[in-house]
Amino acid sequence: MTDIRMKIDGKDVVAAEGMTVLEAAHSAGVSIPTLCHHDQLQPYGGCRLCIVELETKGGSSIVASCVYQAEDGLVINTRSEKIDRIRKSILELLLAHAPDSPQLQELAADYGADKDKFEQEASFCVHCGLCVRYCTEVKQENAVGFIDRGIRKEISFLPEIASKVCNDCKECFPLCPTSYLQAVFVLVESLAFPTQRRLERE
Ligand code: SF4
Ligand code: FES
Repeated sequence: MTDIRMKIDGKDVVAAEGMTVLEAAHSAGVSIPTLCHHDQLQPYGGCRLCIVELETKGGSSIVASCVYQAEDGLVINTRSEKIDRIRKSILELLLAHAPDSPQLQELAADYGADKDKFEQEASFCVHCGLCVRYCTEVKQENAVGFIDRGIRKEISFLPEIASKVCNDCKECFPLCPTSYLQAVFVLVESLAFPTQRRLERE
C-alpha cells in the first residue's frame, strides 16, 4: 500500500490509501469538528461542520473532510477566517433546532455562535442521520427512519420492527447529538400509538 503525503495545518501528515481527509487529520492528532460522522458508518457528508479549506493553484476551495479522499500533495487548513465563519453559521442554524444540545453548545462556544441568531424552531432533531444509519448499517434492522421532508422531516420508529428489536438494543440513543431523551420519547410514542405514526407517514 502506498503512503499518501499531505500537509494539514502546516504539519506533514502521512496517510494510508483509501483514507478520507478527516481520517488522515485524526490519525495525525488534528481535530476537526463533526456531527454526522461515525467511525462505524459510511461517510455521509450531511452536516458540513467538518469542512476544511483545500489550497488550490491560485486559490482555495471548501470541502467536507469526512467525504473527501486523501491524496498525495494536498494542502489543507482546518481553521481559517472563512471556515470559522461558515461553521459559526451552520452552528447557529442547528442551534435553532436543538438549543439545549450540549455538543452544539460546546462547539458554539468555540466558534462564537449565537444560539439566538435565528428564530427557534426546536425540533430536537438536526437530521444528522446517525440513529437511522446506525440501525441500517450496523444493526441491519431499519427500525428507525425519516418521515416528511424539509423542516418537517423527523425520525420515526417503525412499530412493527421496533417492538421486536429496540428493547434489547437502544444503541442509537447515545449517538444522538441533541438529546438522548428525544429518541426515547419518539420510540415510546411510536410503540404506544402505532396507527398514528403510520398515518403520519402516509
Ligand atoms: S434523532 Fe438525533 S441521531 Fe437521529 S437523526 Fe435526529 S439528531 Fe441525528
Ligand atoms: S461530519 Fe462531515 S459532513 Fe457531517
